[in-house]
Amino acid sequence: MKLMKIVKDTEKSLRQPSVEVSEPFSKEDINLALYLHKHLLFAEKEENQKKYGIRAGVGLAAPQVGVNKRIIAVYINYDGHENKEDDYKTEFAIINPKIISHSVRQAYLLGGEGCLSVENAHEGYVPRYANITVTGYDCLTKQFINLKFRGYEAIVFQHEIDHCNGILI
Ligand code: CO
Repeated sequence: MKLMKIVKDTEKSLRQPSVEVSEPFSKEDINLALYLHKHLLFAEKEENQKKYGIRAGVGLAAPQVGVNKRIIAVYINYDGHENKEDDYKTEFAIINPKIISHSVRQAYLLGGEGCLSVENAHEGYVPRYANITVTGYDCLTKQFINLKFRGYEAIVFQHEIDHCNGILI
C-alpha cells in the first residue's frame, strides 16, 4: 500500500479551516475518504507500524495528509470479545461530516486525546459533547448518514471534525 505522509502539527494545513466538498463528489474525493479509512486499517497491524514507522489511530482527517477538504475517517475496532460474534467495528469514511445537534452534557477522555499529527502526548482534558448527531456522506456504505454517537465514538468524531476546522487538541 502506498502511504500518504501524515503531516505534523507544525504544518499550516492543520491550522486552516477546510472547504466543504461540492456535489457531485469526484472520484478523487471519494478515493481520498476511502484512503483515510484504509490507512487506519493498515496502521492497525503491528508489522506495518514497524515496517513503515506509522502509528495506529482511530481517526484521520484530510488536513492531516495535507488536503484542506472536509473529509474524515473513523475506525474503531471492538474485536477481542470472548464470544467472537460480539466483535464489531465502527467505521466510516465521511465527506462533509457535520454535527447537526449535540447534548448539553459534556464528556472527556480521562487519559486525554491522542492525535496522529501530534508526536508527544499532551496532558489535560479536552471537553467534548457527550452525544452528537452527525450527517455527511459515508463512502463505505455509499449513502448519506444521519447518526447519533455517544461516549468515546462521539469524542472521536468531534476530534476529527475539529481537524476540518483547523483545530488541534
Ligand atoms: Co488528530
